[in-house]
Amino acid sequence: MQLRRTILLLLALTLIFSLLKFYFKHNKKANKVNEATPIAWMGPEIEKDSTIQADEKEMIRYGQDLIAHTAKYLGPKGIISQTTNGMNCQNCHLNAGKQAWGNNYGAVYATYPKYRDRSGTIESIYKRVSDCMERSLNGKALDSNSKEYRAIYAYIKYLGKEVAKGTKPLGAGIEKPGLLNRAADKSNGETIYIAQCKICHGEKGQGQLMANKEEYVYPPLWGEHSYNDGAGLYRISNLAGYIKNNMPYLKSNHENPILTDEQSWDVAAFINTQPRPHMDQSKDWPNSKKKPFDYPFGPYADNYTEAQHKFGPYTEMIKKSVK
Ligand code: HEC
Ligand code: HEC
Repeated sequence: MQLRRTILLLLALTLIFSLLKFYFKHNKKANKVNEATPIAWMGPEIEKDSTIQADEKEMIRYGQDLIAHTAKYLGPKGIISQTTNGMNCQNCHLNAGKQAWGNNYGAVYATYPKYRDRSGTIESIYKRVSDCMERSLNGKALDSNSKEYRAIYAYIKYLGKEVAKGTKPLGAGIEKPGLLNRAADKSNGETIYIAQCKICHGEKGQGQLMANKEEYVYPPLWGEHSYNDGAGLYRISNLAGYIKNNMPYLKSNHENPILTDEQSWDVAAFINTQPRPHMDQSKDWPNSKKKPFDYPFGPYADNYTEAQHKFGPYTEMIKKSVK
């Protein structure tokens, strides 16, 4: 009697245990599906879109071409004006601003106008596009009524059509690389440059023009035709983040970056130590407390030098400024 009871009890316990195991196993599976890697934003393909009117499509298409081949229209040999340095917007906003983790425009239509600390004002899309014209392309802003600006606006608006107002999709803009607890090392950066970048961007960072000299095959990284020192890429966190996810071109991507965080910071430090055009930016960051940690021009609200702000180490600095 006693023995039968014990056996029954044991059987019952085994059954309960198996049921619990089954439940947890399946529940875990369900959780895994929910945790699946979220998909980064990619721009829509205009040519495949049958929902837009022909004239609207024409304008969006022109906007896309202006982003991809800016120099053809606005560069030193531009057919509309000769008001920029010869780079294309696409050199830094890959695949005409549609590429995941390639400094894309996915967040622009959804988040502008917005307040930006650099100017201390609320900025429109026009102001933000003009900023890149004047800094990254070291040139002149377009007239806001020009067909060219209206086309760029139509294109940016089209790209952001599915993005909820006020949100920034995954993979938009530039991803910041992990911080180092040492200063970025420009001489190590030079070694990396020579091994991994020089073949396309050139010995003097001058890039390489197409045979007809209208556009670059490989854009310049420094020198008179490169971005000026007021541009976003002149902050080494931006440059390192862009490089890590996208360079060497077509080899590196977000899932399989070629350079480590360290190497990205070091090569960025090397590139941003080379000569490039200067821009008066005395009106930038009117509130010095809001300057980003790696903004290389004082005065600062803290006691760190310009050199430390430019190259790091940043960990202490950031900790202190958060307090
Ligand atoms: C030399 C590189 C470079 C070039 C060329 C360049 N940009 Fe930019 N652009 C940047 C960087 C860096 C940012 C800031 C990204 C960040 O903060 O995440 C930026 C930001 C922007 C933004 C705001 C994005 C956002 O999500 O807030 C717009 C709009 C923009 N650029 C438009 C243009 C246009 C239009 C052109 C061509 C006329 C252009 N850019 C050329 C580097 C460049
Ligand atoms: C195979 C050729 C190739 C190699 C190697 C390469 N790049 Fe590039 N790089 C490009 C091209 C092409 C673009 C512009 C992409 C476009 O317009 O679609 C670019 C764009 C850039 C840009 C933004 C535009 C600019 O001129 O400021 C930076 C920064 C950059 N590369 C840095 C690097 C660094 C750093 C390395 C080495 C780690 C590197 N690249 C290796 C081809 C290359």
